[in-house]
Amino acid sequence: MAEEKKDISVLLTEKRVFKPTPEFVEQTNVKKWMNKHGIKDYDELLKKCEDIEWFWGEMSKELVEWYSPYDKVLDWNPPFAKWFTGAKYNIVHDALDKHIKTARKDKIAYIFEGEPGDIKKWTYGELYTEVNKLANALKSLGVKKGDRVGIYLPMLVELPIAMLACAKIGAVHSVVFSGFSATALRDRLIDCESKVVITCDHFYRRGGKVALKKQTDEAVEGAPTVKNVIVYKRIGDDVPWTEGRDHWWHEITKDQSAECETEKLDANDLLYILYTSGTTGKPKGILHAHGGYAVGTAQTLKWVFDLKEDDIWWCAADIGWVTGHSYIVYAPLILGTTSIIYEGAPAFPEPERWWSIIDKHKVSVLYTSPTAIRAHMRLGEEHPQKCGLDSLRILGSVGEPINPEAWIWYHKYIGREQCPIMDTWWQTETGHFCISPLPITSLKPGSATKPLPGIKAAVYNEQGEAVTNAGGNLVMLNPWPGMLRGLYKDEERYKQVYWSKFQNTYLAGDVTRMDEDGYFWIQGRADDVLNVAGHRIGNSEIESALVSHPKVAEAAVIGKPHELKGESIAAFVVLRQGVEPNEELRKEIREHVGTEIGKIARPDEIGFVNDVPKTRSGKIMRRVIRAKAIGEKVGDISTLANPEAVEEISRAK
Ligand code: PRX
Repeated sequence: MAEEKKDISVLLTEKRVFKPTPEFVEQTNVKKWMNKHGIKDYDELLKKCEDIEWFWGEMSKELVEWYSPYDKVLDWNPPFAKWFTGAKYNIVHDALDKHIKTARKDKIAYIFEGEPGDIKKWTYGELYTEVNKLANALKSLGVKKGDRVGIYLPMLVELPIAMLACAKIGAVHSVVFSGFSATALRDRLIDCESKVVITCDHFYRRGGKVALKKQTDEAVEGAPTVKNVIVYKRIGDDVPWTEGRDHWWHEITKDQSAECETEKLDANDLLYILYTSGTTGKPKGILHAHGGYAVGTAQTLKWVFDLKEDDIWWCAADIGWVTGHSYIVYAPLILGTTSIIYEGAPAFPEPERWWSIIDKHKVSVLYTSPTAIRAHMRLGEEHPQKCGLDSLRILGSVGEPINPEAWIWYHKYIGREQCPIMDTWWQTETGHFCISPLPITSLKPGSATKPLPGIKAAVYNEQGEAVTNAGGNLVMLNPWPGMLRGLYKDEERYKQVYWSKFQNTYLAGDVTRMDEDGYFWIQGRADDVLNVAGHRIGNSEIESALVSHPKVAEAAVIGKPHELKGESIAAFVVLRQGVEPNEELRKEIREHVGTEIGKIARPDEIGFVNDVPKTRSGKIMRRVIRAKAIGEKVGDISTLANPEAVEEISRAK
């Protein structure tokens, strides 16, 4: 172990750059494309693709089939972009319909492994039939083009099926992560006025069963637009039932036709709404449309992870987040890939669960988060070492900065020092990877390297000047095809959050440094958004959940650096007058946040205080609280209304 430690620190101090071998580079999708276009190296590739209309137009020819051609690749009316205007399109045509006419019909689309170990393989043909039946069932419930459908399902193949069934008929899906609570589901169903919800009875998680239907019922009670609930039977235990409103998936699809015509939409029609946390208020509904999103997700997957016909792709994220939407559902299906869907928890029931899945199904490309890597790192390399892992050829990371130690461990013990690591930076808003290496790029552990071909990003200081080797604001200087189309029912907030700081420039909200080689080092959120284990949660969202507890008067939430999760959640709580703090209450408040948002948002620490530092206008000074809580210099507190409250933070009980 000591020997290994030394080894890793040597690798780090050398500031080693990992260069792919020429043999590896030669057979990559990107290099083959470069050869075809007479492009000799990576720098020339990036230069050539600065003509974004040319580049994305070329890519669309290779990746998607329009029902009718577009007139313009891009119609840019800042801050609104339309891609492939005038084209008739539906992403389901590329994800399913086109494959059915070829040998791909019998190719495996998904290999499903349940937590108890049950395995089921789905061909493209089987997926197509099930999607059609469910799409017809949705139509029978009156769902039409433009209607919103809530989907609250765990990692089952029925989740992509439900998404595709909606898209097929032109309905807009809004998937809610199955780890979110009934309250969080209800808020989202209300906001997007869902007509139908698709869920399941229960699912397996860490050996237990999660009662999803019961939670759905609680949510639907307060969401009057929901008239029907479709329930997939995963386990078969009894569930509460409302006659007339609830329908078993297997019953409602049983007599439906196995054919359903795909709705020919406008390429810019909405595909989905996915809620994500922002600095203030409730989560925002990010909007994505069919055409540009299809081209952007498929292109980035094909080049970054170099997917080929015989690859087995495992994106180990949850489909409830954008990573799963783009890279478990849409992009891999468009490329005709075979993907893994695993229902359960990592390292369950034994630490090598993931590694044995890789060996069993011959996974060739694995994409996961730094938190998962660090958790496995802590369990020890003896577990991956029990497995061969020799089917792997490329690895990926997403969701948070990957610390160089974790990068090296991943490279050494999972990648057997042979697999390059694609550290992909992107967001729910961007729809697809934006800053990421290609398999031909020289890698620096901890850096997401450079903006991809067709993407123009920079680091700006507060004055809007591009800076090198200094922390600044990560910005995007051009639109890109998977770019969000706005926020659901909130155009003003869209303009204000992303486009108001610098003119016609997209503000990502991340602090970043660009080094002298043009490599980007993403450091974390610049705003009041936490990144806990790669999950994005607004400080203010947790604070609202805390103050909704009847005994809490005020609350301030900050993130503290955390070895495993990147950030942990610390809450400072002022109780209502007359309420005495105690352990029982601390637990109760913590669980209350779990009920309001979901387990991932429960504070790791709750400190009781008499007051929290605020400005004269009443704004909670999280910067000051955080500095005090983690022992950093507090800085100027002269603008505070209650400077004495700063000391309260160190006295928190
Ligand atoms: O802070 C960045 C971080 O995750 C944020 C986006 O979160 P979300 O919309 O939930 O999407 C996560 C998956 C795409 C970003 O603003 N982030 C994402 N990828 C990276 C990252 N931080 C550092 N390195 C990354 N590779």
